[in-house]
Amino acid sequence: MYLQRRNRITRQSEAIRSLVSETKLSPNDFIVPLFIDEGTNSKTEIASMPGYYRNSLDVTVNEVKELWSMGLKSVLLFVKSKDELKDNTGKEAWNKDGLMQRSIKAIKDAVPEMYVMTDVALDPYSSYGHDGIVKDGQIVNDETVEALVKMSISHAEAGADMVAPSDMMDGRIGAIRKGLEENNFINTGIMSYSAKYASCFYGPFRDALDSAPGFGDKKTYQMDYANRIEAIKETLMDVEEGADIVMVKPALSYLDIIREVKNAANVPVSAYNISGEYAMIKAAAEKGWINEDKAIMEVLTSIKRAGADLIATYFAKDAIRILNH
Ligand code: PBG
Repeated sequence: MYLQRRNRITRQSEAIRSLVSETKLSPNDFIVPLFIDEGTNSKTEIASMPGYYRNSLDVTVNEVKELWSMGLKSVLLFVKSKDELKDNTGKEAWNKDGLMQRSIKAIKDAVPEMYVMTDVALDPYSSYGHDGIVKDGQIVNDETVEALVKMSISHAEAGADMVAPSDMMDGRIGAIRKGLEENNFINTGIMSYSAKYASCFYGPFRDALDSAPGFGDKKTYQMDYANRIEAIKETLMDVEEGADIVMVKPALSYLDIIREVKNAANVPVSAYNISGEYAMIKAAAEKGWINEDKAIMEVLTSIKRAGADLIATYFAKDAIRILNH
C-alpha cells in the first residue's frame, strides 16, 4: 500500500512523541487551593475528597513551605468560618483579625514569594450559605457587591497578591477594582471567576467548608450549564471592568467554554478543576476502575490543551510528583 502521508510516524517512539507534544504541564501551571481551619496542629480529611485536608493555620504554613519547595508558586485560600461568626451580612469576611486575614499574613511572612490568592464570596460567612446577602428570599446584588469590596480591601490590607471573587454578582469586578485603587492597593490583582456555572460538582467543596446553601440553589447568580454565549459576555465584561485573570469553572464539563474564552479574551485564562472532579477520579481509582496517576495527567493536560493558562487543582502536588518521576 502506498501512502503519501503516514501519521503514525510521529507516534513511533517515546522520543518522537515527546518532541512533537503540543501541551506540557509544569509547576507554573498550577494554583493550589487550600482549606484553612481554626485551631492548631489539626488536619481533617474531607470525607468526600479523600487525600485532601482542611488544616489549621500552623499546618497550612508548613504545607505552603513544602509547596514552594516543590516549585508551586500560587495558593488560593479558603477558610472555614465558625458557625457563631456567620450572619446574613457576612461581616466576618472583612474582620481584620479574621481567620482569612491572619492566614494571608502568616503565609506571606513564612514564604513571601508565594503568590497568595484569596476567595472572595460570602458563602463561608453567610448564615444562609449563599454567596450574597439575602432579603425576602432573594440574593441582593448591590449590597452584596459593597460587602465584597470591603472583603477584598481587607484581604489586600492583610497582604493578598490577588483577590478571586467567586460570587457571580453583577458589577463586582469594577467595584472591587475601584475600591482597591481608592485605597492605594494598586498592585493587588483580581482573578475573576467570570464564567462560573451552577454545578452539582461543587458538592464536596461545600462539605469541606460546611457552606452548602440553606435554602434553594445558586441558579440566580451562577450560570446555566446550557449556555455558551453568556460565558463570553461575562468574561469580556470582567476584563473591561478590570479583571487581570478570568476563570472558567468547573473545568471538565466546560472545556469548550475554556477554549472560547481563551480565544475571546486578551488576559490569561484560568480554569478550576473542582472538588467533584477530584472526587470522581479518587472514587474510581479507589475501586480500581481507573489508574489514578494517568487519569490526573490526562485530565490536567486536557484542561491546558483547551486553553487554560492556569489551573486551580487539588491534584497539583500529585502532578508534580508524577512529572518528576
Ligand atoms: C464559593 C466557592 C465554591 C467553590 C469555590 N468558591 C462553591 C460554590 O460556589 O458553591 C467551588 C470549588 C470546588 O468545588 O472545588 N463561592
